[in-house]
Amino acid sequence: MSRKTILHMLTPLQHMSPFDVNMALDAGFDAVIPYTDVSLSDVGHLVQDAIFSRPPDAGVATGIFLAGKDAPLALDMLDAAKKAMVPPFEISVFADPAGSFTTAAAMVAKVEKALVKHHDRELNGAAVAVFGATGVVGYCTAVIAASLGAKVTIVGHDGIERVTEIAASIQQRFDMNVEPADGSTEALKTAIVRDTEIVLAAAKAGVQVLSKAQLGSAGGLLVVADVNAVPPAGIEGLKVNANGEQLDATQAVGIGPLSIGNVKYKTQAGLFQKMIEAKKPVAFDFRDAFTLARDLAK
Ligand SMILES: NC(=O)c1ccc[n+]([C@@H]2O[C@H](COP(=O)([O-])OP(=O)(O)OC[C@H]3O[C@@H](n4cnc5c(N)ncnc54)[C@H](OP(=O)(O)O)[C@@H]3O)[C@@H](O)[C@H]2O)c1
Repeated sequence: MSRKTILHMLTPLQHMSPFDVNMALDAGFDAVIPYTDVSLSDVGHLVQDAIFSRPPDAGVATGIFLAGKDAPLALDMLDAAKKAMVPPFEISVFADPAGSFTTAAAMVAKVEKALVKHHDRELNGAAVAVFGATGVVGYCTAVIAASLGAKVTIVGHDGIERVTEIAASIQQRFDMNVEPADGSTEALKTAIVRDTEIVLAAAKAGVQVLSKAQLGSAGGLLVVADVNAVPPAGIEGLKVNANGEQLDATQAVGIGPLSIGNVKYKTQAGLFQKMIEAKKPVAFDFRDAFTLARDLAK
């Protein structure tokens, strides 16, 4: 019997993201139901409420989506959801808070491709600076880049304190080293990019993070990528649809937000479709997003 596919969408915030609702329905779920103000301690109850209402063979037709704007919390919720399963009563789970897992995956996958194509280099050992690192996309970008062996610096726009705490939490959760840096003045940011080969910008929409002059003074730059599609560009001079073209005043190539967004969109849609088509329940986080984004990135 063909069963309806149902996606329960949980967020700790006041609203479920309309973007994610649209993506899930367009990917093919028959019904998506938002749950707001969900705390970590609610997740187990909601999962068990869902798993016992359908026979075990309908588990694959039932999914949980974890949203919000906090990557560590979404990962904790994913763990709580997995722990709440009672085999053979199991359902699928996918975490992508604020689209950050799929966005970060798409950015790193695009940069990885550009690095090989234009510079015959890989991310392993490359000096990477992540701007907007206190945000949910920046956090996940730093973790994925570090997992590939990059030497990652996370830059704080308001000083070093918060990025130092984030570096410690990444060390504790993933056993990965990322270095915090103070990027609270233009001079400090100039000094950071001078020692950087790859800039990954994930700052607030409509905020310029680096100027042409700062980029021009960074002789070792290889690739510069930005996810902000709202003018002004996060990276001055980087076109929204740049896809490996040389960036003015530098030796680096640029990857713009719409080129990244194209892969992000396909990655999120693809993971929803994998949930729908799965023969056994699946659990997806940023690692699965990156695996798929790597296949999709050109
Ligand atoms: N291209 C795509 O497909 C795609 C998809 C999703 C998101 N995005 C974009 O990705 C970016 C990051 O998203 P997010 O959800 O992580 O955003 P966010 O929560 O707004 O945070 C972005 C980061 O920017 C920082 N920031 C705030 N004001 C700043 C300033 N004046 N200078 C430098 N940094 C500043 C934030 O610091 P605080 O911690 O102090 O707030 C945070 O670290 C946004 O531009 C968003 O539009 C793109």
